[in-house]
Amino acid sequence: MNALLQDHAPATRTRPRGWSRLHVVLHWLVVVLIAVQYVDRESMETLFDATFEGRSIQTFDMVLGWTHIAVGSAILGAMAIRLVDRIACGRPPHGAAEPGWARWLASATHALLYVVLLAMPALGLLAWITGSETSADLHTLLWTPLLVLIGLHVAGALAQSLWFRSGALAQMTSLRGRF
Ligand code: HEM
Ligand code: HEM
Repeated sequence: MNALLQDHAPATRTRPRGWSRLHVVLHWLVVVLIAVQYVDRESMETLFDATFEGRSIQTFDMVLGWTHIAVGSAILGAMAIRLVDRIACGRPPHGAAEPGWARWLASATHALLYVVLLAMPALGLLAWITGSETSADLHTLLWTPLLVLIGLHVAGALAQSLWFRSGALAQMTSLRGRF
């Protein structure tokens, strides 16, 4: 958590001017994959209940349910790679016009997004492997906080760009950085 809230790259290295290409690609990939999870979530619930109650379900729910598992696992992998990239390379500096409270809010939101996007798929996998209702409930419970964090994050990203005129959005949409 500390590494996530930390704004500066390790003191021995200069901070990168932009996000790595890998980080940018994974950021937008995760956005798309979360949208897929929004669509397939109810089929996953149907598949989960039917599997542990020994019932059969329609092919449609079966396909979407397994999509949920595959896409959720991909999110876990993508977030783990981003975390390693973030800790190893640091993040680009915030815009000079951004006040301290806005930087802090952005860092806290980013850190919580990492926590939720790592915990959610991990709990989902645990529920699927063990059949644990508690893990399934905790997994589902994190959905609303995730949506709130995404809302806050998107509002913040737009404010950074339109209000504080920082280059954050340009950096997050540029593939010109290092790999
Ligand atoms: C970040 C990735 C994920 C997101 C955003 C997500 C989202 C959701 C949501 C919103 C639900 C609730 C469905 C409803 O109540 O209608 C759900 C259910 C479920 N998800 Fe995920 N999921 C993710 C990853 C995974 C993974 C990797 C697995 C592994 C198998 C998984 C397994 C489950 C299970 C078993 C349920 C049913 C829980 C129940 O019936 O109580 N999820 N998921
Ligand atoms: C599902 C939706 C989204 C999620 C889960 C998400 C997640 C994240 C995370 C975790 C970071 C921090 C990166 C890091 O510190 O390693 C980040 C950065 C960023 N995101 Fe998103 N994001 C989403 C949607 C968006 C959207 C729609 C936009 C554009 C409006 C956006 C713009 C940005 C920008 C500009 C940054 C860099 C912020 C900075 O340098 O201070 N994101 N995002």
